[in-house]
Amino acid sequence: MSVVAIVGGQWGDEGKGKIIDILAEKAKIVARFSGGDNAGHTVVNPQGEFRLHLIPSGIFYPKVTCIIGNGVAINPAVLLQEIEDLSNHGVDTNSLFVSDRAHLIMPYHTLLDALEEERRSMKALGTTRRGIGPAFSDKVARLGIRAGDLLNKNTFRNRLSTALDFKNIILTKVYQASPLALEEIYNQYCHYGEQIAPYIQETSSMIYKAITKGESVLLEGAQGALLDPDFGTYPYVTSSSPLAGAGCVGVGLGPRVIDRVAGVFKAYNTRVGAGPMPTELEDETGNFIREKAHEYGATTGRSRRCGWFDAVAGRFSVQINGLTDIALTHLDIYDGFSQIKICTAYKFDDEVLTSFPSDADILEKCQPIYEEVDGWEESISGIRNFNKLPTEARNYVSRLEDLLSCPISLVSVGPDRRQIIPVKEFFS
Ligand code: GDP
Ligand code: IMO
Ligand code: MG
Repeated sequence: MSVVAIVGGQWGDEGKGKIIDILAEKAKIVARFSGGDNAGHTVVNPQGEFRLHLIPSGIFYPKVTCIIGNGVAINPAVLLQEIEDLSNHGVDTNSLFVSDRAHLIMPYHTLLDALEEERRSMKALGTTRRGIGPAFSDKVARLGIRAGDLLNKNTFRNRLSTALDFKNIILTKVYQASPLALEEIYNQYCHYGEQIAPYIQETSSMIYKAITKGESVLLEGAQGALLDPDFGTYPYVTSSSPLAGAGCVGVGLGPRVIDRVAGVFKAYNTRVGAGPMPTELEDETGNFIREKAHEYGATTGRSRRCGWFDAVAGRFSVQINGLTDIALTHLDIYDGFSQIKICTAYKFDDEVLTSFPSDADILEKCQPIYEEVDGWEESISGIRNFNKLPTEARNYVSRLEDLLSCPISLVSVGPDRRQIIPVKEFFS
């Protein structure tokens, strides 16, 4: 029995939803610890194909308790829609709980996110416009409104009034936009509050008790390490930490309880939104990967930038997450590639860099240094046993293991829950 954090190893969309859906079978609790509905986690299982933005990917197992932790910013409208969509597909959400400490995304957050992106114009960050930056800014500025506030209408009204007084100054004076009406937001959110109230709990104690009883807990990350506000390609990052370390704070646990940290990586790299990506392929190979893998965002539908696997960034991700395991997804996308490139270092001016630079401007100027390995002809999406993979596919996996200095414990060869090759047990 153990506590396992599952995090994105690259720039998000690595296939975390799929991996969590698989591992959740043996878990007692699955808890989301960061991000908000900027996340889009796809799960394909016998119940259908789902894109989850807030609800943990363990929701398909009735015996698994799913928790949206204090570290997540929740848009109540999105949450209620997701609950409704799931129940329309026969998926029970009775085992879902929402931390009373989780901050709420308010209408001014989404509005300000969009206004700021438009103001930046050519320098836009390419956010998902879900209000994530403004909501996490308010959390640290002590202007936020939390899920638990919805349970007390007086408290909620007072907090909303204080926040809105300030937001309306920004909206009207900085962005020349119309102010928002207190009554309208108040009534709308009271209505959401009534519907969400049954899910709201003090959730950190629930997780603590389960761990004390020796039960297995999965901490579900959102986004990916390279979007971390401290260690990612700042300022082209998100606004909450996607790293395993945030898994503790984001659900209310101490750092010593985490036994394993699994990083999900694609066999290549993708990125949505602006910011440096040294291995990006703006050519036919990049387009081929995008079309074959349907690399279009699960949240915004934007096309994802595609490129070869970046082992410099990957090593950094192993380091800052303290990874014990890797789940490698999308290996099937390389079927039919005669040669595959892996970036092992960067060239910056006359220097060869083997570590990931802190400065996005330097990373932007880095040229990838590649090594080439042989690809394979046949389709691997039906293979379930590691030893049955073509030699070249096994060699590719072991080369990545060497470059990243971390064992690859799972290999995914398609979007479906069954398309998985276990290399090592996650839960002991
Ligand atoms: P997440 O945000 O990390 O959960 O990833 P997304 O759901 O945003 O994007 C991953 C996409 O790849 C989804 O469409 C998945 O269904 C799909 N997917 C996951 N694993 C694999 C795989 O091994 N092979 C292929 N071809 N698709 C996969
Ligand atoms: P999952 O959990 C990929 C990116 C956005 C943008 C930057 C900032 O599905 O892997 P934000 O809206 O967070 O302020 O946008 O972060 N981004 C993601 N990219 N997957 C995600 O989540 C992402 N969540 C945010 O595209 O570049
Ligand atoms: Mg995604």
